[in-house]
Amino acid sequence: MKVMAIIGSARKGNSFSMVQSVKDALLGSDVELEVVHLKDLSIGFCDGCLSCDETGRCHLNDDMSSIVEKVKDADGLVLASPARWSLLSGQMKVFMDRLNPLASIEALANKKAIIFAVGQTKEEEDSSISIAAESMVSFCDNAGIKVIDKVLAYGCLMENEVDEKTIKRCTEAAKRLVDSLK
Ligand SMILES: Cc1cc2nc3c(=O)[nH]c(=O)nc-3n(C[C@H](O)[C@H](O)[C@H](O)COP(=O)(O)O)c2cc1C
Repeated sequence: MKVMAIIGSARKGNSFSMVQSVKDALLGSDVELEVVHLKDLSIGFCDGCLSCDETGRCHLNDDMSSIVEKVKDADGLVLASPARWSLLSGQMKVFMDRLNPLASIEALANKKAIIFAVGQTKEEEDSSISIAAESMVSFCDNAGIKVIDKVLAYGCLMENEVDEKTIKRCTEAAKRLVDSLK
């Protein structure tokens, strides 16, 4: 069984730590986990030509070409993004746009996902981290991907500020994802 984790952050920070906890949770299991950090890749904007609706392929030639094949092969996805202006990160949004070739051939339908969102806002003041998470849920709903769980990390501004309780929630979410794939 294959799980692909996508980190939509511009740094090796809190989204990275949340995904790292998935890696730790799945160590020694029969799950093949691939972690992709979008900041390390060159992925251009979708130009909206919609030729993928006809062909199921994107005419752009960049790092997304190989990622699309890996997403196609994955049974489960972990989508991790920081909140940015009460939205998801630009990197994650571009990644989602560039998955339209798979959506157009219904190759995302029936995959399962867990969602991680992080930001500086405190839980009692939150709407922005929830909106970031709901944007990813909305993408999944549109693409036919079933969301198994979501974890929101509050009060995290600088790197490595996700608390132990939230890291444990990420681990539990990863286990729920794997159970759902059995
Ligand atoms: C341009 C920008 C916009 C941000 N907007 C929000 C926001 O709307 N809500 C929030 O809670 N945090 C916001 N933040 C803070 C980040 O979400 C926070 O630093 C988070 O921990 C970054 O995650 P990362 O370490 O995975 O990159 C923003 C940060 C930047 C740089």
